[in-house]
Amino acid sequence: MNVNILAIESSCDETSASIISNGKILNNIVATQSVHEKYGGVVPELASRAHQQHLIPVVHEAIVSSGIDKNALTAVAFTRGPGLMGSLMVGVSFAKSFAYALDIPLIAINHMEAHILAHFIDEPKPSFPFICLTVSGGHTQLVLVRDHLDMEVIGETMDDAVGEAFDKTAKLLGLPYPGGPFLDKYAKEGNPKAYQFPISDMPDLTFSFSGIKTAVLYFLRDHLKDNPQFVEDNLADICASVQYTLIKTLMQKLKKAAKQYKIKEIAIAGGVSANSGLRDELENLSSQLGWKVYIPKFEYCTDNAAMIAMAAHYKYQKGDFCGLDVSPEARMKI
Ligand code: KG4
Ligand code: ZN
Repeated sequence: MNVNILAIESSCDETSASIISNGKILNNIVATQSVHEKYGGVVPELASRAHQQHLIPVVHEAIVSSGIDKNALTAVAFTRGPGLMGSLMVGVSFAKSFAYALDIPLIAINHMEAHILAHFIDEPKPSFPFICLTVSGGHTQLVLVRDHLDMEVIGETMDDAVGEAFDKTAKLLGLPYPGGPFLDKYAKEGNPKAYQFPISDMPDLTFSFSGIKTAVLYFLRDHLKDNPQFVEDNLADICASVQYTLIKTLMQKLKKAAKQYKIKEIAIAGGVSANSGLRDELENLSSQLGWKVYIPKFEYCTDNAAMIAMAAHYKYQKGDFCGLDVSPEARMKI
């Protein structure tokens, strides 16, 4: 029998649907919400409303472009958490109704596990056990992955996520939201050693990213006193220096984890893994330390339903279904 799963992602500000057929991703339809740009951050209420608007057209497109009849779907999967409660609610309610109407099983997916399982969409796939550094707008985690559905968080941030640090410093520099990709773009033309920002010194495998935002704030205040054009004149160097500091902080802990667990299979996942400086640094470390590094395709770095579909594939094989009384979990843990 063919196993055709419809997967839905609605945890933050992307509405996405994907169809996976017998373990192969057929498509990945994503509707990005531009409504948040003018507010400089995701407005939860507006995100929920936009999901309501986008979800059915996105699902429709996924089903039609897959060439699979709606009645030939064997299961429906959705992101249960973590994420924004209102946004999750839209996806969960839709998935439950869909499963009930078609009388097919329902599969609940953890968004953070799915970011990691995006590595199993294409070749080359990491072999177990591997360490994944998951870096997004809401999370910064080091995860020991023993099997597709056997993961353990071995380190995480005690305050801001690294994506937040990118976005908040970019905002201080007057860049549009979300600032991460803009900071990345300007950093390419700058000198990463032009300015020095403190690298947080946390014990074990714990990260902290709240300090850099304050450091950049004071740095700008001091320089703007003498030169009101300081940011415009030095944007590339400031971006390169901030990015260098953030990447260095991430790499210090990743190196520590790899050494501690004696693992050389290293993956990155989440929106910040689109960062070109981070990708370059991982390539450097892979030749220096003999790591085998896995970096997802661009489209599978940021939020998407293909990763939810991939996770659903493994859960379907185990018969890991949930009841129609399931509810979202905004703080769902791995
Ligand atoms: O995984 P994701 O799409 O959504 C969350 O679950 O948070 O990650 C979004 C984050 C944002 O903070 C965004 O600025 C960051 O990923 N991001 C980047 C880049 N592309 C996206 N940060 C740095 N450099 C990039 N090229
Ligand atoms: Zn995400």
